[in-house]
Amino acid sequence: MNRRMTRAGTISGTVRVPGDKSIAHRALILGSVARGEQIVEGLPLAADVASTASCLRSLGCAVTEMADGRVRISPGSWKHTATIDAGNSGTTARLLAGLVAGLGIDCTIDGDASLRRRPMERIAAPLRLMGAEVTTAADGCLPMRIRADGLDGIVYHPPMASAQVKSAVLLAGLSASGDTTVVEIAPTRDHTELMLGAMGAPLSRHANSVTVTGRSPLDALTVAVPGDISSAAFFMAAAAICPGSEVRVESAGINPTRIGVLRVLQEMGAEIAMENRTTSGGEPTADIIVRSSSLEGVVIDGAIIPSLIDELPLLAVTATQARGTTVVRGAGELRHKESDRIGCMVENLSRLGAEVEELDDGFIIRGPCALRGAAVDSFGDHRIAMAMAVAGLVAEGTTTVEKAEAVDISYPEFFRDLDRLLR
Ligand code: S3P
Repeated sequence: MNRRMTRAGTISGTVRVPGDKSIAHRALILGSVARGEQIVEGLPLAADVASTASCLRSLGCAVTEMADGRVRISPGSWKHTATIDAGNSGTTARLLAGLVAGLGIDCTIDGDASLRRRPMERIAAPLRLMGAEVTTAADGCLPMRIRADGLDGIVYHPPMASAQVKSAVLLAGLSASGDTTVVEIAPTRDHTELMLGAMGAPLSRHANSVTVTGRSPLDALTVAVPGDISSAAFFMAAAAICPGSEVRVESAGINPTRIGVLRVLQEMGAEIAMENRTTSGGEPTADIIVRSSSLEGVVIDGAIIPSLIDELPLLAVTATQARGTTVVRGAGELRHKESDRIGCMVENLSRLGAEVEELDDGFIIRGPCALRGAAVDSFGDHRIAMAMAVAGLVAEGTTTVEKAEAVDISYPEFFRDLDRLLR
Protein backbone atom coordinates (compact mmCIF):
# COMPACT_ATOMS: atom_id res chain seq x y z
CA MET A 1 0.00 0.00 0.00
CA ASN A 2 1.26 3.47 -0.89
CA ARG A 3 0.41 6.32 1.43
CA ARG A 4 0.52 9.86 0.04
CA MET A 5 1.44 12.61 2.46
CA THR A 6 1.14 16.32 1.77
CA ARG A 7 2.60 19.20 3.67
CA ALA A 8 0.63 19.80 6.88
CA GLY A 9 -0.46 23.14 8.22
CA THR A 10 -0.36 22.34 11.89
CA ILE A 11 -1.04 19.22 13.89
CA SER A 12 -3.04 19.69 17.05
CA GLY A 13 -5.31 17.85 19.44
CA THR A 14 -5.21 14.88 21.78
CA VAL A 15 -4.24 11.32 20.96
CA ARG A 16 -3.99 8.07 22.89
CA VAL A 17 -1.46 5.68 21.37
CA PRO A 18 -1.64 1.85 21.53
CA GLY A 19 -0.17 -0.03 24.47
CA ASP A 20 3.57 -0.42 24.79
CA LYS A 21 4.78 -3.28 22.60
CA SER A 22 7.75 -4.18 24.80
CA ILE A 23 5.63 -4.33 27.95
CA ALA A 24 2.89 -6.26 26.14
CA HIS A 25 5.31 -9.01 25.03
CA ARG A 26 6.55 -9.36 28.59
CA ALA A 27 3.07 -9.39 30.12
CA LEU A 28 2.16 -12.34 27.88
CA ILE A 29 5.40 -14.25 28.27
CA LEU A 30 5.82 -13.83 32.02
CA GLY A 31 2.12 -14.58 32.47
CA SER A 32 2.69 -17.96 30.84
CA VAL A 33 4.95 -19.09 33.69
CA ALA A 34 3.07 -17.46 36.58
CA ARG A 35 0.97 -19.11 39.26
CA GLY A 36 -2.64 -18.18 38.52
CA GLU A 37 -4.16 -16.22 35.65
CA GLN A 38 -2.45 -13.13 34.34
CA ILE A 39 -4.81 -10.47 32.99
CA VAL A 40 -3.59 -7.86 30.51
CA GLU A 41 -5.49 -4.61 29.92
CA GLY A 42 -4.73 -2.45 26.89
CA LEU A 43 -2.87 -5.06 24.86
CA PRO A 44 -2.04 -3.38 21.52
CA LEU A 45 -3.38 -4.83 18.27
CA ALA A 46 0.17 -4.74 16.90
CA ALA A 47 1.12 -7.69 14.66
CA ASP A 48 4.30 -8.27 16.71
CA VAL A 49 2.30 -8.78 19.89
CA ALA A 50 -0.08 -11.10 18.03
CA SER A 51 3.01 -13.12 17.04
CA THR A 52 3.95 -13.59 20.69
CA ALA A 53 0.39 -14.64 21.59
CA SER A 54 0.21 -17.15 18.76
CA CYS A 55 3.67 -18.59 19.54
CA LEU A 56 2.66 -19.07 23.18
CA ARG A 57 -0.47 -20.89 22.03
CA SER A 58 1.65 -23.13 19.78
CA LEU A 59 3.78 -23.93 22.82
CA GLY A 60 0.69 -25.04 24.73
CA CYS A 61 -0.21 -21.95 26.77
CA ALA A 62 -3.78 -20.65 26.92
CA VAL A 63 -4.04 -17.01 25.75
CA THR A 64 -7.66 -15.91 25.46
CA GLU A 65 -9.40 -12.66 24.75
CA MET A 66 -12.16 -12.01 27.29
CA ALA A 67 -15.54 -10.43 26.49
CA ASP A 68 -14.36 -7.06 27.89
CA GLY A 69 -11.33 -6.97 25.55
CA ARG A 70 -8.79 -7.87 28.23
CA VAL A 71 -6.54 -10.85 27.62
CA ARG A 72 -6.09 -13.78 30.01
CA ILE A 73 -3.01 -15.99 30.12
CA SER A 74 -3.42 -19.27 31.95
CA PRO A 75 -0.73 -21.86 32.52
CA GLY A 76 -1.30 -24.48 29.87
CA SER A 77 0.22 -27.84 29.37
CA TRP A 78 3.52 -27.22 27.62
CA LYS A 79 4.35 -29.21 24.49
CA HIS A 80 7.47 -31.39 24.41
CA THR A 81 8.33 -30.25 20.90
CA ALA A 82 7.12 -27.27 18.88
CA THR A 83 7.86 -25.12 15.84
CA ILE A 84 6.94 -21.49 16.25
CA ASP A 85 6.76 -18.56 13.84
CA ALA A 86 7.81 -15.21 15.35
CA GLY A 87 6.76 -13.33 12.19
CA ASN A 88 8.58 -9.98 12.03
CA SER A 89 9.21 -9.75 15.77
CA GLY A 90 12.76 -9.91 17.16
CA THR A 91 11.47 -9.59 20.71
CA THR A 92 9.22 -12.62 20.23
CA ALA A 93 11.98 -14.82 18.79
CA ARG A 94 14.61 -13.84 21.32
CA LEU A 95 12.57 -13.76 24.51
CA LEU A 96 10.81 -17.01 23.67
CA ALA A 97 14.20 -18.64 23.02
CA GLY A 98 15.02 -18.00 26.68
CA LEU A 99 11.61 -19.24 27.81
CA VAL A 100 11.66 -22.54 25.88
CA ALA A 101 15.24 -23.29 26.95
CA GLY A 102 14.13 -22.99 30.57
CA LEU A 103 11.01 -25.08 30.04
CA GLY A 104 12.95 -27.81 28.23
CA ILE A 105 10.79 -27.64 25.09
CA ASP A 106 12.54 -28.89 21.95
CA CYS A 107 11.66 -25.85 19.89
CA THR A 108 12.45 -24.52 16.43
CA ILE A 109 11.93 -20.78 16.05
CA ASP A 110 11.48 -19.22 12.61
CA GLY A 111 10.31 -15.88 11.29
CA ASP A 112 9.66 -13.81 8.16
CA ALA A 113 12.31 -12.79 5.61
CA SER A 114 13.32 -9.70 7.64
CA LEU A 115 13.62 -11.60 10.93
CA ARG A 116 15.62 -14.33 9.15
CA ARG A 117 18.29 -11.70 8.42
CA ARG A 118 18.69 -10.65 12.08
CA PRO A 119 21.44 -12.02 14.35
CA MET A 120 20.47 -14.81 16.75
CA GLU A 121 23.90 -15.96 17.96
CA ARG A 122 23.64 -13.20 20.57
CA ILE A 123 20.92 -15.34 22.16
CA ALA A 124 22.34 -18.76 21.30
CA ALA A 125 25.71 -18.03 22.97
CA PRO A 126 24.48 -17.36 26.52
CA LEU A 127 21.89 -20.16 26.33
CA ARG A 128 24.68 -22.59 25.41
CA LEU A 129 26.68 -21.38 28.41
CA MET A 130 23.65 -22.25 30.56
CA GLY A 131 23.66 -25.79 29.16
CA ALA A 132 21.24 -25.63 26.21
CA GLU A 133 21.96 -27.13 22.82
CA VAL A 134 21.28 -24.37 20.29
CA THR A 135 21.74 -24.40 16.54
CA THR A 136 21.21 -21.47 14.19
CA ALA A 137 21.33 -21.28 10.38
CA ALA A 138 24.82 -21.04 8.80
CA ASP A 139 24.69 -17.22 8.92
CA GLY A 140 23.84 -17.24 12.66
CA CYS A 141 20.21 -16.35 11.96
CA LEU A 142 16.84 -18.15 12.08
CA PRO A 143 15.71 -20.86 12.00
CA MET A 144 17.09 -21.61 15.46
CA ARG A 145 16.56 -24.90 17.31
CA ILE A 146 16.80 -25.07 21.09
CA ARG A 147 16.95 -28.18 23.24
CA ALA A 148 17.73 -28.27 26.93
CA ASP A 149 17.40 -30.60 29.84
CA GLY A 150 17.96 -28.37 32.83
CA LEU A 151 19.93 -25.12 32.84
CA ASP A 152 22.55 -23.70 35.20
CA GLY A 153 22.67 -20.06 36.26
CA ILE A 154 25.49 -17.95 34.80
CA VAL A 155 26.99 -14.48 35.05
CA TYR A 156 26.71 -13.04 31.56
CA HIS A 157 28.17 -9.85 30.07
CA PRO A 158 26.38 -9.26 26.72
CA PRO A 159 28.81 -7.66 24.25
CA MET A 160 26.10 -5.25 23.03
CA ALA A 161 23.45 -3.17 24.83
CA SER A 162 20.33 -5.26 24.22
CA ALA A 163 17.22 -5.60 26.34
CA GLN A 164 16.25 -8.62 24.28
CA VAL A 165 19.47 -10.46 25.15
CA LYS A 166 19.18 -9.46 28.81
CA SER A 167 15.56 -10.58 28.96
CA ALA A 168 16.20 -13.90 27.18
CA VAL A 169 18.92 -14.77 29.70
CA LEU A 170 16.74 -13.74 32.66
CA LEU A 171 13.81 -15.78 31.31
CA ALA A 172 16.04 -18.84 31.00
CA GLY A 173 17.41 -18.02 34.47
CA LEU A 174 13.90 -18.31 35.96
CA SER A 175 14.13 -22.10 35.44
CA ALA A 176 17.89 -22.51 36.00
CA SER A 177 19.65 -23.78 39.09
CA GLY A 178 21.06 -21.03 41.29
CA ASP A 179 21.44 -17.38 40.33
CA THR A 180 21.60 -15.87 36.85
CA THR A 181 23.21 -12.44 36.49
CA VAL A 182 23.34 -10.13 33.47
CA VAL A 183 25.85 -7.26 33.51
CA GLU A 184 25.14 -4.64 30.85
CA ILE A 185 27.59 -2.35 29.03
CA ALA A 186 24.91 0.35 29.07
CA PRO A 187 21.49 0.34 30.69
CA THR A 188 18.68 -0.90 28.42
CA ARG A 189 14.90 -0.91 28.90
CA ASP A 190 14.09 -2.58 32.22
CA HIS A 191 10.48 -3.72 31.72
CA THR A 192 11.40 -7.36 32.37
CA GLU A 193 12.99 -6.52 35.71
CA LEU A 194 10.08 -4.28 36.77
CA MET A 195 7.48 -6.92 35.91
CA LEU A 196 9.43 -9.75 37.51
CA GLY A 197 9.73 -7.65 40.68
CA ALA A 198 5.98 -6.96 40.67
CA MET A 199 5.35 -10.71 40.26
CA GLY A 200 7.38 -11.48 43.37
CA ALA A 201 10.49 -12.92 41.71
CA PRO A 202 13.65 -12.91 43.83
CA LEU A 203 15.50 -10.24 41.89
CA SER A 204 18.28 -7.86 42.81
CA ARG A 205 19.65 -4.92 40.85
CA HIS A 206 22.97 -3.08 41.30
CA ALA A 207 24.26 -0.43 38.92
CA ASN A 208 24.32 -2.17 35.51
CA SER A 209 23.64 -5.69 36.76
CA VAL A 210 20.53 -7.71 37.52
CA THR A 211 20.31 -11.11 39.22
CA VAL A 212 17.39 -13.52 39.36
CA THR A 213 17.25 -16.67 41.49
CA GLY A 214 15.90 -19.62 39.54
CA ARG A 215 13.04 -21.98 40.30
CA SER A 216 11.02 -19.56 42.43
CA PRO A 217 7.31 -19.05 41.81
CA LEU A 218 5.93 -15.96 40.04
CA ASP A 219 2.53 -14.56 41.03
CA ALA A 220 0.15 -13.62 38.22
CA LEU A 221 -0.71 -9.93 37.90
CA THR A 222 -3.27 -7.68 36.32
CA VAL A 223 -1.12 -5.57 34.00
CA ALA A 224 -2.39 -2.25 32.59
CA VAL A 225 -0.17 -1.59 29.57
CA PRO A 226 0.73 2.12 29.27
CA GLY A 227 0.76 3.92 25.90
CA ASP A 228 3.88 3.22 23.85
CA ILE A 229 6.37 6.11 24.03
CA SER A 230 7.90 4.79 20.78
CA SER A 231 4.54 5.37 19.05
CA ALA A 232 3.89 8.64 20.92
CA ALA A 233 7.24 9.90 19.62
CA PHE A 234 5.89 10.28 16.06
CA PHE A 235 3.31 12.83 17.20
CA MET A 236 5.78 14.50 19.55
CA ALA A 237 8.29 15.05 16.74
CA ALA A 238 5.57 16.05 14.26
CA ALA A 239 4.30 18.69 16.71
CA ALA A 240 7.84 19.91 17.33
CA ILE A 241 8.59 20.47 13.62
CA CYS A 242 5.23 21.67 12.21
CA PRO A 243 4.95 25.39 13.06
CA GLY A 244 1.97 26.36 15.23
CA SER A 245 1.32 22.79 16.46
CA GLU A 246 0.35 21.53 19.90
CA VAL A 247 -0.32 17.85 20.65
CA ARG A 248 -1.18 16.03 23.85
CA VAL A 249 -0.43 12.30 24.03
CA GLU A 250 -2.43 10.79 26.88
CA SER A 251 -1.10 8.18 29.31
CA ALA A 252 2.18 7.38 27.63
CA GLY A 253 4.82 5.29 29.39
CA ILE A 254 7.70 7.46 30.61
CA ASN A 255 9.99 4.75 31.99
CA PRO A 256 13.41 6.46 32.34
CA THR A 257 15.03 3.73 30.19
CA ARG A 258 12.74 4.69 27.27
CA ILE A 259 12.55 8.48 27.24
CA GLY A 260 15.78 9.33 25.45
CA VAL A 261 13.65 10.74 22.63
CA LEU A 262 11.96 13.15 25.01
CA ARG A 263 15.31 14.28 26.44
CA VAL A 264 16.83 14.81 22.99
CA LEU A 265 13.80 16.71 21.66
CA GLN A 266 14.05 18.96 24.74
CA GLU A 267 17.77 19.44 24.17
CA MET A 268 16.99 20.41 20.56
CA GLY A 269 14.69 23.11 21.94
CA ALA A 270 11.26 21.44 21.76
CA GLU A 271 8.71 22.69 24.27
CA ILE A 272 7.55 19.62 26.22
CA ALA A 273 5.45 19.39 29.37
CA MET A 274 4.18 16.39 31.35
CA GLU A 275 0.93 16.26 33.31
CA ASN A 276 -1.14 13.67 35.19
CA ARG A 277 1.83 11.56 36.21
CA THR A 278 1.06 8.20 37.75
CA THR A 279 2.64 4.75 38.15
CA SER A 280 1.18 1.33 37.43
CA GLY A 281 3.03 -1.97 38.05
CA GLY A 282 6.24 0.01 38.53
CA GLU A 283 5.85 1.68 35.10
CA PRO A 284 5.47 5.49 35.22
CA THR A 285 3.06 7.18 32.79
CA ALA A 286 2.06 10.77 31.99
CA ASP A 287 0.30 12.93 29.44
CA ILE A 288 2.97 14.46 27.22
CA ILE A 289 2.29 17.87 25.67
CA VAL A 290 4.50 19.12 22.84
CA ARG A 291 4.40 22.54 21.17
CA SER A 292 6.30 23.53 18.04
CA SER A 293 9.42 25.59 18.46
CA SER A 294 12.65 26.31 16.63
CA LEU A 295 15.10 23.45 16.97
CA GLU A 296 18.90 23.17 17.06
CA GLY A 297 21.10 20.25 15.99
CA VAL A 298 22.56 17.99 18.72
CA VAL A 299 25.07 15.21 19.26
CA ILE A 300 23.48 11.87 20.22
CA ASP A 301 25.88 9.18 21.39
CA GLY A 302 27.01 7.09 24.37
CA ALA A 303 24.78 5.68 27.08
CA ILE A 304 21.62 7.50 25.91
CA ILE A 305 21.52 5.45 22.66
CA PRO A 306 19.69 2.36 24.02
CA SER A 307 16.98 4.61 25.50
CA LEU A 308 16.08 6.00 22.05
CA ILE A 309 17.33 3.28 19.71
CA ASP A 310 13.91 2.80 18.06
CA GLU A 311 13.39 6.55 17.72
CA LEU A 312 16.57 7.31 15.76
CA PRO A 313 14.88 7.14 12.31
CA LEU A 314 12.40 9.73 13.56
CA LEU A 315 15.11 11.86 15.17
CA ALA A 316 16.88 11.84 11.79
CA VAL A 317 13.75 13.37 10.23
CA THR A 318 13.54 15.90 13.09
CA ALA A 319 17.20 16.84 12.59
CA THR A 320 16.52 17.90 8.99
CA GLN A 321 14.34 20.69 10.44
CA ALA A 322 16.84 21.79 13.10
CA ARG A 323 19.42 24.56 12.67
CA GLY A 324 22.96 23.20 12.62
CA THR A 325 24.49 19.75 12.58
CA THR A 326 23.10 16.63 14.26
CA VAL A 327 25.54 13.77 14.77
CA VAL A 328 24.46 10.25 15.80
CA ARG A 329 27.25 7.83 16.76
CA GLY A 330 27.53 4.54 18.61
CA ALA A 331 24.26 3.33 17.08
CA GLY A 332 25.56 0.42 14.98
CA GLU A 333 22.77 -1.75 16.42
CA LEU A 334 20.44 0.15 14.07
CA ARG A 335 21.80 -1.92 11.21
CA HIS A 336 20.34 -5.09 12.82
CA LYS A 337 16.73 -3.95 13.23
CA GLU A 338 13.72 -4.75 11.00
CA SER A 339 15.80 -3.09 8.27
CA ASP A 340 19.27 -1.54 8.19
CA ARG A 341 17.87 1.65 9.68
CA ILE A 342 21.02 3.68 8.97
CA GLY A 343 21.24 2.78 5.29
CA CYS A 344 17.47 2.98 4.72
CA MET A 345 17.04 6.38 6.40
CA VAL A 346 20.06 7.85 4.61
CA GLU A 347 18.57 6.71 1.30
CA ASN A 348 15.06 8.01 2.05
CA LEU A 349 16.17 11.38 3.40
CA SER A 350 18.52 11.85 0.44
CA ARG A 351 15.56 11.25 -1.90
CA LEU A 352 13.78 14.18 -0.16
CA GLY A 353 16.85 16.37 -0.65
CA ALA A 354 18.24 16.32 2.90
CA GLU A 355 21.94 16.81 3.53
CA VAL A 356 22.78 13.53 5.18
CA GLU A 357 26.01 11.57 5.55
CA GLU A 358 26.15 7.87 6.40
CA LEU A 359 28.53 6.61 9.10
CA ASP A 360 29.21 2.99 10.07
CA ASP A 361 27.50 3.49 13.41
CA GLY A 362 25.23 6.46 12.78
CA PHE A 363 24.78 9.50 10.54
CA ILE A 364 25.33 13.26 10.26
CA ILE A 365 22.55 15.62 9.18
CA ARG A 366 23.01 19.28 8.32
CA GLY A 367 19.90 21.40 8.74
CA PRO A 368 17.63 23.11 8.36
CA CYS A 369 16.71 21.65 5.04
CA ALA A 370 13.73 22.40 2.78
CA LEU A 371 12.61 18.84 2.00
CA ARG A 372 10.99 18.15 -1.39
CA GLY A 373 8.32 15.46 -1.68
CA ALA A 374 9.34 12.23 -3.45
CA ALA A 375 8.66 8.49 -3.37
CA VAL A 376 10.27 6.87 -0.34
CA ASP A 377 10.32 3.24 0.81
CA SER A 378 9.37 1.84 4.20
CA PHE A 379 11.64 -1.11 3.36
CA GLY A 380 8.93 -3.12 5.15
CA ASP A 381 9.97 -1.49 8.43
CA HIS A 382 7.19 0.00 10.58
CA ARG A 383 9.33 2.68 12.20
CA ILE A 384 10.69 3.85 8.85
CA ALA A 385 7.16 4.03 7.41
CA MET A 386 6.00 6.28 10.27
CA ALA A 387 9.18 8.40 10.35
CA MET A 388 8.85 9.07 6.62
CA ALA A 389 5.16 9.93 7.02
CA VAL A 390 6.28 12.61 9.51
CA ALA A 391 8.86 13.83 6.98
CA GLY A 392 6.00 14.12 4.48
CA LEU A 393 4.29 16.62 6.80
CA VAL A 394 7.09 19.15 6.29
CA ALA A 395 8.16 18.33 2.71
CA GLU A 396 7.07 20.54 -0.19
CA GLY A 397 4.52 18.78 -2.44
CA THR A 398 3.64 15.10 -2.12
CA THR A 399 5.65 12.38 -0.41
CA THR A 400 4.62 8.81 -1.21
CA VAL A 401 5.48 6.25 1.46
CA GLU A 402 5.67 2.88 -0.27
CA LYS A 403 4.76 -0.33 1.63
CA ALA A 404 3.14 1.85 4.29
CA GLU A 405 1.19 -1.18 5.62
CA ALA A 406 4.35 -1.93 7.62
CA VAL A 407 2.84 0.30 10.35
CA ASP A 408 0.67 -2.71 11.33
CA ILE A 409 3.68 -4.23 13.08
CA SER A 410 3.40 -1.79 16.00
CA TYR A 411 0.64 0.75 15.25
CA PRO A 412 -2.12 -0.33 12.82
CA GLU A 413 -4.18 2.80 13.63
CA PHE A 414 -1.29 5.20 12.94
CA PHE A 415 -2.59 6.93 9.80
CA ARG A 416 -6.11 7.23 11.22
CA ASP A 417 -4.76 8.88 14.38
CA LEU A 418 -2.43 11.16 12.41
CA ASP A 419 -5.22 12.24 10.04
CA ARG A 420 -7.35 13.25 13.03
CA LEU A 421 -4.66 15.65 14.22
CA LEU A 422 -3.99 17.33 10.88
CA ARG A 423 -5.39 20.86 10.57
C1 S3P B 1 13.18 -4.37 22.60
C2 S3P B 1 14.53 -4.10 22.67
C3 S3P B 1 15.26 -3.38 21.63
C4 S3P B 1 14.30 -2.61 20.71
C5 S3P B 1 13.14 -3.44 20.28
C6 S3P B 1 12.34 -3.92 21.49
C7 S3P B 1 12.55 -5.12 23.70
O1 S3P B 1 15.98 -4.30 20.85
O2 S3P B 1 14.99 -2.12 19.59
O3 S3P B 1 12.28 -2.71 19.43
O4 S3P B 1 11.31 -5.14 23.80
O5 S3P B 1 13.29 -5.70 24.50
P1 S3P B 1 17.46 -4.82 21.26
O6 S3P B 1 17.36 -5.57 22.51
O7 S3P B 1 17.88 -5.68 20.10
O8 S3P B 1 18.28 -3.57 21.39
